Amino acid sequence: MTGSPARPSHADDLDGTLAEALRLLARGAADRRSPFHTPGIATIGRDGRPKLRTVVLRAFDPAGPALRFHTDSRSAKIAELEAAPSIAVHGYDPGAKIQIRIEGRASVHGDDAVAEAAWNASQRMSRACYAVAPGPGTAMESADAFELPATDEEIASGRIHFRAVVVAIERLEWLWLAHGGHRRAEFAFGPDGSASGRWLVP
Ligand SMILES: Cc1cc2nc3c(=O)[nH]c(=O)nc-3n(C[C@H](O)[C@H](O)[C@H](O)COP(=O)(O)O)c2cc1C
Repeated sequence: MTGSPARPSHADDLDGTLAEALRLLARGAADRRSPFHTPGIATIGRDGRPKLRTVVLRAFDPAGPALRFHTDSRSAKIAELEAAPSIAVHGYDPGAKIQIRIEGRASVHGDDAVAEAAWNASQRMSRACYAVAPGPGTAMESADAFELPATDEEIASGRIHFRAVVVAIERLEWLWLAHGGHRRAEFAFGPDGSASGRWLVP
């Protein structure tokens, strides 16, 4: 067979493009093989510089739209988000050649029903990270001068450090690289989740 594969139905359809972006993010949360399972998240550093790191996408709610990731209260990103809740999220699927960029506002949950449900749904292995001592990012004299929890009780003691971060998505930008013509679109979301979109020059 020769020629390019047929262009998907969302190629020139704004609503279809948004639906495809939301579908890919939902899959990112559900499927650890999806490239969107491990997005980059950027915060504003206390020194004013951008800070960027990988996290696991734990949940995605297309109605918000909103996404959730988990982290340690002692990590730099929590202090950064408490000072400035603006956050950016980035993912790229090299197979589909689709980049998704998100801007939003983060809310940090530690001692409420959101955090409790997220902690209860976490695996033992994931929970264990939150009991590491001293806290993540602490300078050490040697490479292994930190302690991980060994018992269930020690793992449970990490609960106080566990934070679920929910990102309310305010803006989403789509970029699809395709032989027949790239496509770029941006969507803005109101507080009620309503979307307005427009095409941008790729
Ligand atoms: C594949 C991968 C997944 C990660 N997932 C998380 C995560 O879900 N939460 C988290 O806090 N850090 C995660 N990390 C570690 C962060 O990238 C980062 O190194 C750490 O959170 C410290 O960041 P900070 O000092 O800027 O807060 C992950 C790293 C990798 C490579």
